[in-house]
Amino acid sequence: MKVTWHGHACVSLYLNDGTRIIIDPFITGNPTSDLVAKDVQADYILITHAHNDHIGDAELIARNTEALIISTVEIADYFAKKGLNTHGMQPGGAFNTGRFWIKLTPAIHGSSYTEQDGNIVQLGIATGIIVKADGKCIYHAGDTAVFSDMRLIGEAGRLDYAFLPIGDNYTMGPRDACKASSFLQPRHLVPIHYNTFELIEQDPETMRPFLPKGVLVVLDVGVEITI
Ligand code: NI
Ligand code: MN
Repeated sequence: MKVTWHGHACVSLYLNDGTRIIIDPFITGNPTSDLVAKDVQADYILITHAHNDHIGDAELIARNTEALIISTVEIADYFAKKGLNTHGMQPGGAFNTGRFWIKLTPAIHGSSYTEQDGNIVQLGIATGIIVKADGKCIYHAGDTAVFSDMRLIGEAGRLDYAFLPIGDNYTMGPRDACKASSFLQPRHLVPIHYNTFELIEQDPETMRPFLPKGVLVVLDVGVEITI
């Protein structure tokens, strides 16, 4: 598959059969994004939690493409009520879409959504996402603190790529992400959720001395890699 980081927590997966998956499509209002929301093509939209910097342009993309939104039951129900195609899950649960396998994991974080008029709705709990496709296993941690049960995520199947937030303040910082890596034991760790705003500015290279050689993969926004 091909994988691209689009700034903040937005990651897209392009499977060998042509399936297009976008995770946490925060594009409009994301100063680091390389995408234009109205032009995004997607078959599946995966959402880790409801915060606006993760739901982002999910509704617009889903309307334009008829993509299936996969997220928690609460977020799925919220968008189903708006007439969109959804599939609801909960942490610990796995689902085979027919194109790929997905499992939601725990995350330590909130999951409120601020609507356009400023109304705040609570949409369940935050999650991480594991995707298996094309013989590869990807873990997108969403927004979370480090937690020792990440060991279980790593033990359940070798992670080829783990996308971990390192921005600090709202999520793990770089040192905690290194601790998370020691639990997860991924082949590769890709830092995300940093340098979008001043409050989450980080230098991912500070992590390199604390990780096994070759694990840290610092991606540039918009650069597609084949894994
Ligand atoms: Ni968040
Ligand atoms: Mn966030």
